[in-house]
Amino acid sequence: MLSFTHIEGCRLRQKGYYMENFSFYSPTCFVFGKDSEEKAGSLVKRFGGSKVLIHYGGGSVVRSGLLDRVKKSLDDKGIPHVELGGVKPNPRDGLVYEGIDLCKKENVDFILAVGGGSVIDSSKAIAAGVLYDGDFWDFYRGQWIEDALPVGTVLTIAAAGSEGSPDSVITREDGMFKRGASGDAIRPKFSILNPALTQTLPPYQTAAGITDIMAHLYERYLTNTEEVEVTDRLIEALLLTMVHEGPRVIADPDNYDARANIMWAGTMAHTNAVGVGRSQDWLSHTIEHELSALYDCAHGAGLAVTMPAVFTYEMSHNVMRFAQVAVRVWGCQMDFAHPEVTAKAGIEAFRNFLISIGMPKNFEELGAKEEDIPKLVDVLCNGDGRKGTISGFITLNEEECTEIYKMMV
Ligand code: NZQ
Ligand code: ZN
Repeated sequence: MLSFTHIEGCRLRQKGYYMENFSFYSPTCFVFGKDSEEKAGSLVKRFGGSKVLIHYGGGSVVRSGLLDRVKKSLDDKGIPHVELGGVKPNPRDGLVYEGIDLCKKENVDFILAVGGGSVIDSSKAIAAGVLYDGDFWDFYRGQWIEDALPVGTVLTIAAAGSEGSPDSVITREDGMFKRGASGDAIRPKFSILNPALTQTLPPYQTAAGITDIMAHLYERYLTNTEEVEVTDRLIEALLLTMVHEGPRVIADPDNYDARANIMWAGTMAHTNAVGVGRSQDWLSHTIEHELSALYDCAHGAGLAVTMPAVFTYEMSHNVMRFAQVAVRVWGCQMDFAHPEVTAKAGIEAFRNFLISIGMPKNFEELGAKEEDIPKLVDVLCNGDGRKGTISGFITLNEEECTEIYKMMV
């Protein structure tokens, strides 16, 4: 394999695109390790909660006994609580409205999410909605979230990174489309990360989580900013960790060590510590969100089908960026005469990796339908205030988005 300096010498340089100014605010207290959920009560107290809404999903935390342990931890600290379960994967606005009403009625001042990204995102939406006079959906139309009730999390799946992010993604039931909202106010006050809690995940969900984590890394890697060596290297390290630990955990779901590395990588991937000072892509996420909204597939599974198509489409915009990740992460040979060959080999290696951990490779395996493409493109490019294009590493119009969805068939 050629040394990395060969890549350096060959990197495309565009004057004026150097590391951008940034401010990075990541105040979440991460409490990591075995039995860490026992600290839920003392952490809620530390961050000022006196009446808690425990928010959870479709029942996995009930079956595993985690919900009871969390409630006991609150009871031990004398903290009263109410409950709202039933968050679906790809969480819906209907339950958010219900949660806002419940919090107001019960004078809740702290929300504790016990579950995955969907539960955490629903909790964040409720937290923002309780303190807002208007419709909480305004935030999902682009209004920045300035204020919210404090949120804590007990994470049960390494995937979305919502435990450390300022983001929330909710599906609007009227039209079934998915939109995100952001604001430092919804960054969790604390997140409890016990890798052992993820051992009950079905293999498909574990794999979908791995895919999502890698997507969060790639979406940041695909940048138009030059001279961002530190974040490039951090992203590569996290991607290499996933390449190493992913197959280990799929082969042995009880492997605590692999789950621990994946869990921390998942959090690191999405606090934005590895994305500061650089433009980012997010086209794969934007294109995927329409798939998980319409077909209710796992977000990570949708990304497994979306990313190879988007990357292939984007490749010519900056072949050397794709060649760089191909060499540094996937161990591909650098072909200086034909860098596009190296770039393509890296995308193919990633695609094969995703297939090897059990992810779908096309529309059919995902449960998506070719005849829906016009509808997907219309909501993607024109839904809820969009104006015919979406932007990231490159800008795409309706025709180009159609082409990309067709590549996934
Ligand atoms: O609902 P329960 O019964 O808990 O079951 C869940 C759900 O069916 C199950 N599960 C979770 N932990 C488990 C478990 N089953 C057994 N044992 C456990 N320990 O897994 C299923 C999926 O859960 P979900 O919360 O939907 O998964 P994930 O964490 O992947 O979250 C996906 C959502 O996050 C959004 C996605 O769009 C999607 O809606 N995202 C949020 C982001 C953010 N807020 O920063 C960024 C991401 O890019 C992403 O868009
Ligand atoms: Zn994601």
